[in-house]
Amino acid sequence: MQNKKKIILDVDTGIDDALAIIYAVKSDDILVEGITTGFGNVDVKQATENTLKVLDLINPSYEIPVSAGADKPLFRPRREPSVAIHGHDGLGEYPLPATKRYPVEQHASDFIIKKIHENLHNITLVFTGRLTNLAIALAKDPSIASKVERLVLMGGALHVPGNVTEVAEANIHGDPEAAHRVFESGIPITMVGLDVTSKTKFGEEHFGQVMEQLPVDQQGLRDFFDHIFQFSFNASDQLNEGRFRLMHDPLAVGVAIDPNYVKTKDFYIYIETRGALSSGATLADLRTPQTKTNASVCIKVNDELFLQHYIDTIVK
Ligand code: BDR
Ligand code: CA
Repeated sequence: MQNKKKIILDVDTGIDDALAIIYAVKSDDILVEGITTGFGNVDVKQATENTLKVLDLINPSYEIPVSAGADKPLFRPRREPSVAIHGHDGLGEYPLPATKRYPVEQHASDFIIKKIHENLHNITLVFTGRLTNLAIALAKDPSIASKVERLVLMGGALHVPGNVTEVAEANIHGDPEAAHRVFESGIPITMVGLDVTSKTKFGEEHFGQVMEQLPVDQQGLRDFFDHIFQFSFNASDQLNEGRFRLMHDPLAVGVAIDPNYVKTKDFYIYIETRGALSSGATLADLRTPQTKTNASVCIKVNDELFLQHYIDTIVK
């Protein structure tokens, strides 16, 4: 386990978060030190339950603690999640059996602080939901900013439109003040935003490969994939976009495993927190050379290389 990258995965377990969890847990390159949960695609209670049930499906070979966190944004009410993309329960209403796993007692923000102090400069945070748990952790203990190896986050949109408003991506829009606090914290950040995730499409052919290669003794996982991918393909079909699932959250895990799946450029990302139309936008001054920067922004992706690695990993 020594050369593996230690990560804490923070999720709001909807469908692509579940796909990211499965990828991280099955990866030989990663050791999941813990999974923290927050509101987003669903409320935090549901996100935590979904996470525990997904772990049941994978049955990891080592213990992975799950810690529940924020149930609302720092300073504003929770916005309604998108039922069309993830279903009412976040997992396309798939009837997963009840879980016997329990979350740990500790709040996600305290869990994050504890793990960072136990693994100085050796924890990569991978956030695939709102940044609220990390913003709370930073408020409680600002010293963690210089003790984290890197934060890889799924969120934002620099050169492309948003997905919940014209300009904002869901994870940043869901708690802009938390995002602001994190981007101003000094943590080394890789922003895996819509610039690259909207180009990373898992389609019918990829699904066929998974079903062909996934061992039959993993029937529970096969049934789950069958359901959530068909749910996803139908959802994007109904929006007239074609039959695919955008791999937002799995790509963030992929970039943590191997940064070569993407090309990045450094920018200073400002989070818009006030605009009536532009709240949650991730802005950079594109007019001049970047004299100061706070994030490496993914601007290009080798989508097929990543997707093949994703498939190779999850069929193990
Ligand atoms: C992000 O929003 C959620 O719907 C997904 O899980 C992903 O984290 C994409 O904007
Ligand atoms: Ca997510």
